[in-house]
Amino acid sequence: MALIDVVVSDIVQETSTVKTFYFARPDGTPVGRYSPGAHIDVVGPTSLTRQYSLCSRPDDGDTFAVAVKREENSRGGSVALHELAVGDILQISEPRNVLAIADSATHHVLVAAGIGITPMLSMARYMDVHGISFELHYFSRTEEDAAFLPLLRDRCPEKLFTHLGVDREQQESLLVTALEKAPSDTHVYVCGPEGFMDKAISVAERFVAEAAVHFESFHAAAQADAVQNDSFEVELDGEIYEIPADKSIVEVLDENGVEIDTSCQEGICGTCTMTVLAGVPEHRDNVLTKAEKEAGELIAVCVSRCAGKHLVLDYY
Ligand code: FES
Repeated sequence: MALIDVVVSDIVQETSTVKTFYFARPDGTPVGRYSPGAHIDVVGPTSLTRQYSLCSRPDDGDTFAVAVKREENSRGGSVALHELAVGDILQISEPRNVLAIADSATHHVLVAAGIGITPMLSMARYMDVHGISFELHYFSRTEEDAAFLPLLRDRCPEKLFTHLGVDREQQESLLVTALEKAPSDTHVYVCGPEGFMDKAISVAERFVAEAAVHFESFHAAAQADAVQNDSFEVELDGEIYEIPADKSIVEVLDENGVEIDTSCQEGICGTCTMTVLAGVPEHRDNVLTKAEKEAGELIAVCVSRCAGKHLVLDYY
């Protein structure tokens, strides 16, 4: 994936652990607009690549902004980013979107917990400005931990439902209350910690079709041990590639000179998604929706495998 150089043009401390970083082109030209809900890869000071949702105004175009929560127990990506200073240069990818606003929906329910607010912020900003019907349910431990709460309260107070310090049972009943009165053709969008997302998605699917539930996860799905994998073969452009138990499809294609765009390599960003022309994928990603997985027409080739012995793939 092509990367572009950007300069850190501003840094805002949102909460005790969350900073917003603004990225501009070094020559001052606009970075461009993006579709609400999109994310970018950020190659940090330690050369780690991480995905962050864009939270600047999608229609702005001058700068991109990402909000990063400092995670002391992470593999170092967020800690290193928190050391950035205005004027530092780093690299980012073009925006990609796995959480796009559904054009067909008559109403949109955004559900965010913690730092999961970031994609929802760009979506809320866009829908508010463009007169699109939505409501935002924002779960946070405390008011002080809730990044962008003052901004949201200022811009769209009547669309914002803030749920502070509620326990797990309360979370479920609040979501049920929100969704049982949602009009038909409502779409639901979820982002937050893994356990919260599982619960929110399962509640949402009680009220709207699976295909109307959208989510963005920044957590890799738990993977089976390599020893439990089976080998299989992949056919691409008439060539057959043997995928052994200890290698991914992407690794084998790469070894054979077939370039597939990748980013996270963990099944969470969607960059490596390919089309399945024949065969049954064994999905191990956290990026395709349940409906997409059941349809079996797409596969994230960095982590997913074959439920049988033969997959025929094409570029997405
Ligand atoms: S590279 Fe990110 S999902 Fe495969």
